[in-house]
Amino acid sequence: MALVVVTNRIPAEGLDALRAEHEVRAWESEECISRADCLELVKGADAILTLLTEKVDGEFLDAAGPQLKVVANVAVGYNNVDVPACEARGVIATNTPKVLTETTADTAFGLMLMVTRRFGEGERIIRSQTPWQWGMFYLLGMGLQGKTIGIVGMGQIGIAMARRAKAFGMDIVYADDATPPAGALAGLDARKVEFDKLLNVADVVSLHCPYLPATHHLMGAEEFAAMKRTAYLVNSARGPIVDENALVEALRAGEIAGAGLDVFEQEPAVHPGLLEMDNVVLLPHLGSATTETRAAMAQLAADNALAVLRGDAPLTPVTKL
Ligand code: DGY
Repeated sequence: MALVVVTNRIPAEGLDALRAEHEVRAWESEECISRADCLELVKGADAILTLLTEKVDGEFLDAAGPQLKVVANVAVGYNNVDVPACEARGVIATNTPKVLTETTADTAFGLMLMVTRRFGEGERIIRSQTPWQWGMFYLLGMGLQGKTIGIVGMGQIGIAMARRAKAFGMDIVYADDATPPAGALAGLDARKVEFDKLLNVADVVSLHCPYLPATHHLMGAEEFAAMKRTAYLVNSARGPIVDENALVEALRAGEIAGAGLDVFEQEPAVHPGLLEMDNVVLLPHLGSATTETRAAMAQLAADNALAVLRGDAPLTPVTKL
């Protein structure tokens, strides 16, 4: 029997699967674990399930000890995991792709609808009991039909977003260094373009790329200036892909029409400038937050850890980016 450490609360589906085969030491407080508690908790672990709020670096891995075999991140994004540090210690790192694709695309699409149709703004008017009156020109937004969505990063979530956009009658352009698998874009009429071109032509720029050194501040002052003044930014990927100061400046200057954000550069902090703006929709990183999807993520992370502990290959090892 091995020791599996779970560094934050996860759905029972994951914990039950682990407990059926191994000893489990899990963080049970509602409060997110502190770094010091985390380094203490992982001591002696053979496998660790982590959330995106934990930084898995050399210090973390060394605190666990040389017996550690696998870190199973309960998230598709793994910018919190130092993959080379894992490799250097012979630790396998895994993530949870596919199971959250549709849910996260729903969130991105919801953000796009909310910001282009001003739903958040309208709801705030009702809730604050601000007087209002139906009017022909009241709270007019931008319709999506016939508009162009520019998808940055045509991976699984980008493709799921494109399918939704297609169903809403949007034209699709995308930018990606990689080529999507054959057939993945069937029926979408999606055109691959250079990133610069995408910024010029898109009515909505939606980010679906991983956060890497190369995508840090991918969206900055120059990129906002290259967008249409009527265009919107949607970010459901990772906060630091966007230079938040530059975004606030671009919104203030009217260089873009608005933004829908589920992620932030210094999460959970949000740039105060964004809080003041009605043409910005802000969600607290809810991308994959459904009961079903979180259960599936926990189950997949547990299955990854169990496979490695049995001496098998993990189901979804992280891919080198
Ligand atoms: C992820 O998995 O990377 C999301 O950001 C949280 O579900």
